[in-house]
Amino acid sequence: MIEPDAILGVLGGGQLGRMFCVAARTMGYRVWVLDPDPHSPAGALADRHLQAGYAEADALREMREHCAAVTTEFENVPAETLEYFEGRIPVRPSSRSVAIARDRIREKTFIREQGLATAPFFVIDSAADLQAACAGLRLPAILKTARLGYDGKGQCVVGSHAEAVAGFQALGATACILEERIDLAREISVVVARGSAGGEVATYPVGQNVHVNGILDTTRVPANITGQVAAQATQMAVRLADAMDYCGVLTVEIFHSTGGQLLINEMAPRPHNSGHYTLDATLTSQFEQQVRMLCGLPPGSTRLLSAVVMVNILGDLWEQGTPAWNRLLRHAEAKLHLYGKRTPRPGRKMGHYNCLAEDIGQAIELADRIRQELAKPA
Ligand SMILES: Nc1ncnc2c1ncn2[C@@H]1O[C@H](COP(=O)(O)OP(=O)(O)O)[C@@H](O)[C@H]1O
Ligand SMILES: [Mg+2]
Repeated sequence: MIEPDAILGVLGGGQLGRMFCVAARTMGYRVWVLDPDPHSPAGALADRHLQAGYAEADALREMREHCAAVTTEFENVPAETLEYFEGRIPVRPSSRSVAIARDRIREKTFIREQGLATAPFFVIDSAADLQAACAGLRLPAILKTARLGYDGKGQCVVGSHAEAVAGFQALGATACILEERIDLAREISVVVARGSAGGEVATYPVGQNVHVNGILDTTRVPANITGQVAAQATQMAVRLADAMDYCGVLTVEIFHSTGGQLLINEMAPRPHNSGHYTLDATLTSQFEQQVRMLCGLPPGSTRLLSAVVMVNILGDLWEQGTPAWNRLLRHAEAKLHLYGKRTPRPGRKMGHYNCLAEDIGQAIELADRIRQELAKPA
């Protein structure tokens, strides 16, 4: 067990790293963040911000010498960097798990190998592969780059073979998947915490997610699903974590089709935007859980304390200047989280707020009311 006062390393300095810093420092750990951005949201709250690239030898050497363990908040850290740390200190999640999760082809292939369902898809290595893929899938389908996609970036909807060829070029003629578009009843996600030796597992209540333009907009908990569907989704997520012998926090995004099927969409080898509700509505947040898994502590309770709606705050809200936060802060059951980012841009995640209430109906009402108030001109 790694005890408080030890130094924990985080690779990546965005908002997820920032919330990890808060959780770890609250518990008495020290945190070093590696991120080249001088204005890194996590760097600002770390004990030490190593302002260097993810492959810079001096910074990596120093971290390897001083950190008791290392975690990531960003799956695109070079594999060699994770392997370099693995030679000496615990890295959680492992380089292998990160390698599976960051590549849609490996990820979906791995999921299917476990006997778990995904949307039908074809691997597209070159434009020549599009012919068979378009013939084999119901169109329109979705073309997605295998790597580096997030918030709906790196994907496009294609309605014909010609559009698929054009889309493939527009995405940079890089490895892709062509995936059937599912008729969604809803989207849900499950955050799982899994320990190392023995793999003790804790799962969070299922969240129901609404995306707008490919970006998460809201998560509500409890989800509007039966206990049976929730149990099945949770079981699928745990199976995936077990299959990878995963250590750390893993988030699994699942489609619930209008036909009642549960299909795994993707996984994130880390805490996730759809788990931000846990910051205020469960006994242990997903970030404290990340600290616990990294340090070999048992998982904290994931018990839901309140119905909750999480609403993302995007840079678009700054269009008329700084939002009037007083309109949110005057609500006693709304909790504001801002990430300390300097430059608001459309689509950029700047923060979120959690609305807590006695029941989910009231939480939804509060979230809607605050959204309208924030959108009104000053
Ligand atoms: N096959 C699909 N069928 C229906 N909707 C989809 C499909 N793939 C993606 N989407 C929609 O786009 C969103 C973002 O896609 P996703 O594959 O999760 O990429 P990202 O890595 O950007 O999160 C999903 O949450 C969902 O709303
Ligand atoms: Mg996604």
